[in-house]
Amino acid sequence: MKAAVLLAALAPLAALPGVQARTGAAESWITNIWNEFKEAVDCGSCQAHVPLVLLGSLKLVADFGEGFLEDVLTGVCDISGAEDRDVCAGVIASEVPALHYALKNMHVGSHTAKTLCSALVGLCDFPDVRPFDIPFPSPKPAKSRPPPSGKPPINVVHFSDTHVDLSYETGSNYDCSKPICCRVYSDEDAPGKTEKPCGPFGNTKCDPPESLQDSMMTAIADLNPAFSIYTGDVVAHDVWLVNKEEVLQDFNSTYGAMENHLGLVYAALGNHDAAPLNLFPSKNIPSKYNPQWAYEALTANWMTLTGIESVQNANEYGSYSAIHPNSKLRIISYNSIFYYKYNFFSYTEPMEYDPNGQLTWLIEELQAAENADQRVWLISHIPSGNVDHFRDHSHYFDQIIQRYEATIAGLFFGHTHTDEFQIAYSDYKNRNWDTATAMGYVAPSMTPTSGPPSFRVYDIDPETFAVMDFTQYIANISEASFQTKPDWIPYYSAKKDYGGKLTPPTPSTAELTPAFWHNVTVAMEKDSSVFNDFWARRTRGYSVPACTGDCVKNEVCALRGADAQYSCVQRTPGFSFSKRDDGEEVEVDLENSPLLSKRFQPECNHAGMAPLLAKIAHKASIAKMNGE
Ligand SMILES: *[C@@H]1O[C@H](CO)[C@@H](O)[C@H](O)[C@H]1NC(C)=O
Ligand SMILES: *[C@@H]1O[C@H](CO)[C@@H](O)[C@H](O)[C@H]1NC(C)=O
Ligand SMILES: *[C@@H]1O[C@H](CO)[C@@H](O)[C@H](O)[C@H]1NC(C)=O
Repeated sequence: MKAAVLLAALAPLAALPGVQARTGAAESWITNIWNEFKEAVDCGSCQAHVPLVLLGSLKLVADFGEGFLEDVLTGVCDISGAEDRDVCAGVIASEVPALHYALKNMHVGSHTAKTLCSALVGLCDFPDVRPFDIPFPSPKPAKSRPPPSGKPPINVVHFSDTHVDLSYETGSNYDCSKPICCRVYSDEDAPGKTEKPCGPFGNTKCDPPESLQDSMMTAIADLNPAFSIYTGDVVAHDVWLVNKEEVLQDFNSTYGAMENHLGLVYAALGNHDAAPLNLFPSKNIPSKYNPQWAYEALTANWMTLTGIESVQNANEYGSYSAIHPNSKLRIISYNSIFYYKYNFFSYTEPMEYDPNGQLTWLIEELQAAENADQRVWLISHIPSGNVDHFRDHSHYFDQIIQRYEATIAGLFFGHTHTDEFQIAYSDYKNRNWDTATAMGYVAPSMTPTSGPPSFRVYDIDPETFAVMDFTQYIANISEASFQTKPDWIPYYSAKKDYGGKLTPPTPSTAELTPAFWHNVTVAMEKDSSVFNDFWARRTRGYSVPACTGDCVKNEVCALRGADAQYSCVQRTPGFSFSKRDDGEEVEVDLENSPLLSKRFQPECNHAGMAPLLAKIAHKASIAKMNGE
């Protein structure tokens, strides 16, 4: 079977007389690859032959050069109907150099190939984590989280995934066929021509206009926070059009608004914060692929916002560490895109254990903080336990978190556009309140594509910098008054609305510890109303998919999954297997699962070529089911 498919795949090579025939050769490869996508959807794991055959075929196509790979993939995208033709073409053109580089350097069957295969086809599990014992400069001290100081808390705002769209036009069509609307793509979309006009402050099918960004920053400033954190993704989702000029204009808009309204902000790099998006190579990749201009532009903004004179590695790879003035808080902002499964440059052969030595640098920073008796906040874009994060690096990162658990007051992420959290444990086989060691807070987005625009206000202990509580704010985009003036109101409070469900209820003087959050997940298991509240809050009550039975089990498991290999959730089409902590292998039929609707939300759906390929695979599975 494998040999037959391979032979079929090789056939067009024989029919390749020269450059003139490129179109014809491309045509037969397009048919081949499309058929292989259809076959590939039945795999249970990446060990299966078929996806690797698909990968082998893509490698053969890549041998004919970037242009040929681009033609073939664009053709396959067209057949699949995954996106409009211009979107297929734009996305593929922008990322093909990176995919070409990865394919050319990859060995079929290697750990790298299997990992790419799971990202490409989007339905295979990651291969098992390769062990990597990280050396630490000193043994873990017998230290635990400091108790709260009892002093009145300070307010710190966390916002994320702003995705401002400077081409947003009030009155243009919000119901277009593109990944984001409220732009004039054609005459029919123009203001006055369409019957579905976008309002002046945004629409759930669009990335937001500057007016919404201004409104949110003003609302944040009115709360007078001590400082703010921003976990990245400045740029809109026009991924098939975006270029350097647009990215720099977006930086100017969003970082300019922060400077005007907010003052001190610690920010992190997002996967959208360069063009093409997602592609942040390590220093082992030829430097022509490095988005040096994006690092430099961000560094300039970060230095202005933090007032610090040097942001160390920021210019080199988008990470820095800063001591918050007159305090014992060290804020470390690191580049999580190195560990992002959609970053084609991470698929080196072999995959690097520690791209740019960033993990080693994190250890140095954490050790310095431990020595100086400081507390640390780690801020980054992609949650380390997220399904899109490489499992290898999630595990390595988690080893660091475990070593420095007493020093780390909290971790803060964005990226998913949803309101979530992740708990780290000293023992993932025994996930319990007394093994819970670190809290990762995932703040939802400003862009309203997966729910009302939102930001979060933490109550922070001014000495220990522990999170004592947080209040989520929203502006309800479904209310008519939103288009006159968005009204930013408190939506829920973590301590009241989760802590109030625990027995005994959590006192106002207590930290929201990892144990607290673990107990919240236990309450979710016991009382479906607690889970349903969480589930609705993920999207701020907007378009809430049904979730019962195994869906609940897997979502709770994901919350307990800061080490991604234990996070259960499979947000991909087809069938998939994963370890739950009861040891049971779970098979998820996502064709009929609410998780599918999560998977195909805008933050994933339109985030570049890898998700586009996953969407093609999904379309292929439907075509196969329909016997096409
Ligand atoms: C934005 O661009 C303007 C005009 O070039 C410039 O004066 C301003 O400093 C820039 N702001 C930021 C935050 O880059
Ligand atoms: C937002 O407004 C809509 C329409 O009035 C309402 O149905 C929904 O419950 C509101 N959402 C929240 C979170 O208050
Ligand atoms: C969590 O629950 C356990 C068991 O019920 C309890 O002993 C512990 O005090 C709780 N911790 C927090 C922080 O809620």
